[in-house]
This record gives sequence, C-alpha cells and structure tokens, in this order.
Amino acid sequence: MNYLAPSILAADFTKLGEQISSIEKSGVEMLHIDVMDGMFVPSISFGMPVIESIRKNSKLLFDVHLMIEEPDRYVETFAKLGADSITVHAEACTHLHRTIHHIKELGLKCSVALNPATPLSVLDYVLQDLDMVLIMTVNPGFGGQAFIPEMYDKIRQLKKMITDKGLKTDVQVDGGVCFENVQDILDAGANVLVAGSSVFKGNIEDNIAALQKVLVK
Ligand code: DX5
Ligand code: ZN
Repeated sequence: MNYLAPSILAADFTKLGEQISSIEKSGVEMLHIDVMDGMFVPSISFGMPVIESIRKNSKLLFDVHLMIEEPDRYVETFAKLGADSITVHAEACTHLHRTIHHIKELGLKCSVALNPATPLSVLDYVLQDLDMVLIMTVNPGFGGQAFIPEMYDKIRQLKKMITDKGLKTDVQVDGGVCFENVQDILDAGANVLVAGSSVFKGNIEDNIAALQKVLVK
C-alpha cells in the first residue's frame, strides 16, 4: 500500500489548523511532522506545543521525524503528545538499538532515517525491528531542496534487503518529492512519500489529488 505524508514544515503557520483539515478531507492518512533542534540540522522548526495543539484537532497518523541529537531523551514526550510513529536518525543515536526498542516499548511504530551519505549497512542488525526506513533524498534541515538522484539506487538496494530478509518494512522517502519524480520513486521501491512544497505550494487539495493519482494507480 502506498501512502502520501504531507510535511507541515511547508505549511502556512498562520493557517495551520485549516491546512491540516484540508489534508484530512483529501483522504490522506498520515501527517509528517519535522522536529529540528538546530544541532543535528542547522535549522530549528517547532516542537511540543505545536504537536500538542494539532493533536487535539486531527485524527491523522502523526509521523514524527526527529532531526535532533540523542532523540532517546524525548521519545516518551513525543509519545505522550500523540505521535503514532517516531523516526530517529541513525547518525543521531549513540545506542540505536536501544532507542528503537524504547520507541517500540511505548507502543509506537518505529522508523530509522538515513542521511544521503549514510550507508544502508547501519541497518544490518536492526532492520527486522523496524516498521519503516526513511531514506533522506536531500540533506535534512530544509524544505524545498532538489531530490538527489543517486538515492534511487539506495532505495532499490534497501527494497532488496527487505525482500531478501522476508520483511514487510515500509520504505519512506523524504525530500524533493514532486509530481515529476513520484512514479520513479515508487518504481525504485518506496511506498511512503513525504511531500512538503509539492503539497503546500498552491492549492493543497488539487496538489494532493494530483499526487494521489499516481500513488493509488
Ligand atoms: C527536510 C524535511 C522534510 C521536508 C521536505 O529536512 O525532513 O520533511 O519538509 O520538504 P520538501 O518536500 O519541500 O522537500
Ligand atoms: Zn521529514
């Protein structure tokens, strides 16, 4: 099954509630929430108060992407705030295996993200424990960047690793997803596509309809 996960990093924050309602009405099931700490990535986005308030008005699955150093410190907080799934970066975790199990023990779905230069081999001993793997197709930190084409091969290799191990792990792609590359990304083996600019620039409902057309084909 393919999923679209609109990233609210690209939202108009003066209209955040309305924009999330539009997303929900468009039939999307997942909302991608980018938390940045200004350390792991250069930028700072938003955190607990924003998630707490949007949780009250949305039934979407909250897919929380933590771009923060040592995310283990905060997984309980984000679980309490209503995250359904937490993604941590392999590069930000000293004890990745421990952090994965910490998230799972809280009853949440767990995903590990890899920066473009990080090899897939970091997943060798943890892949079986994950619900999803996030392949970053830009260097994390900002929306609106161009998709790095070398990542197609990484997506294909990850999909092969998953199939070879007989797993059903979701493959998520984040960064530079647009109408022009959706089909190629799906063909490479991804099934959860994060989209910031391509959902929020212009008319949200029209953009989602156009992306979903390719995703549900
Ligand atoms: C980047 C974030 C992305 C970002 C994607 O660091 O993790 O989720 O919002 O934005 P676009 O789709 O505009 O590349
Ligand atoms: Zn993200």
